[in-house]
Amino acid sequence: MHCIRKVTDDLYWVGANEHRLALFENIHPIPRGVSYNSYLLLDEQTALFDTVDWAVCRQFLDNVEKALNGRPLDWLVINHMEPDHAASIQEILLRYPNARVVSTEKAFMLMRQFGFGVDERMEEVKSGDTKSFGRHQVVFVEAPMVHWPEAIVTFDTTSGVLFAADAFGSFGALDGRLFNDEVNFERDWLDDARRYFTNIVGKYGPHVQALLKKAGGIDIKIICPLHGPVWRSNLGWFIEKYDKWSRYEPEEKGIMIVYASMYGNTESAACALASKLVEKGLLNVILRDVSSTHVSHLIAETFKYSHVAIASVTYNLGMFPLIHNYLMDMKALNLQKRTFAIVENGSWACKSGDLMRRFLEEEMREITVLDEKLTLNSALSEDRLPDLDALAKSIIASMK
Ligand code: FEO
Repeated sequence: MHCIRKVTDDLYWVGANEHRLALFENIHPIPRGVSYNSYLLLDEQTALFDTVDWAVCRQFLDNVEKALNGRPLDWLVINHMEPDHAASIQEILLRYPNARVVSTEKAFMLMRQFGFGVDERMEEVKSGDTKSFGRHQVVFVEAPMVHWPEAIVTFDTTSGVLFAADAFGSFGALDGRLFNDEVNFERDWLDDARRYFTNIVGKYGPHVQALLKKAGGIDIKIICPLHGPVWRSNLGWFIEKYDKWSRYEPEEKGIMIVYASMYGNTESAACALASKLVEKGLLNVILRDVSSTHVSHLIAETFKYSHVAIASVTYNLGMFPLIHNYLMDMKALNLQKRTFAIVENGSWACKSGDLMRRFLEEEMREITVLDEKLTLNSALSEDRLPDLDALAKSIIASMK
């Protein structure tokens, strides 16, 4: 059964929601599901913007058929070739034999690699090229590495709609709602939007900045991303979030304390640090157990806060493996401009602090590691309380 929504008088959302997938890209948990957005323009000629993941292809085909209402499909515009949006290309080409595909040279290369037979049906475009579907004229803007090298965004200069590919997307299934003003985005969606951006596109901040600069020159009225709500109001608020995330600037002054604790002693020290900070007036403190918090959440919250304290036991003379994984992910995603505090624990050879400091200072960019640190030998003892106090003071001082 079809399930479509009108975006404007002649533009329909024909995408689909996915609720059964546990891990997006087989790595990021998505308990709220995800939407794969596709849009159909009914002009003098018909144009479909992107497709959907294979898992929801049947729903998608029903939607396209309903929205076309017996008309042929003339054009398939592919903004992004990752299979969560491109897997159903071949199925569309089989069902609509007269449809031609519009995309970039790199995208056509990827289509061949994925085994799609598009050779006789390609129309290659590059930045600045325009195309008319009748009343609507669009311009194509290359957006390399947002999030793959072939990506483009398409701007409809007639209606002010930006087909934004992976930009401005979010985890979370739409479940009937479509527009940002039909949800409480800040309350219910922002955390997942941040987690989506930071884990999927976070590495490519400079490329997102380049796209934002290009977008700054056009009069966007509606943003149609490939995941999550369509933006038709308050665009500036969300663009500002993207600007901040892609410049690696924290959203808030505050601290996330991430701890790795095998028997509860490092956890106890992490709690003592949190209490000391709150006692001294810093209320924006959150505590996360690295063993029970998926790293995609840790990454998102690392992008959110100005400060991170990492408390790790020493494990096999190294850092706790999940702390190492967190740091590796942080590095891979290009995180910068943060201040770190270190709490280390080791019962007979305390190594984790030095290893974490070396990683942060040598492997990452624009990171400050506070000189003060807290060292535990097995458990926090009374004689280390001055160090705890000094570390808390140093964290607060570095926020000023
Ligand atoms: Fe949602 Fe890069 O694909």
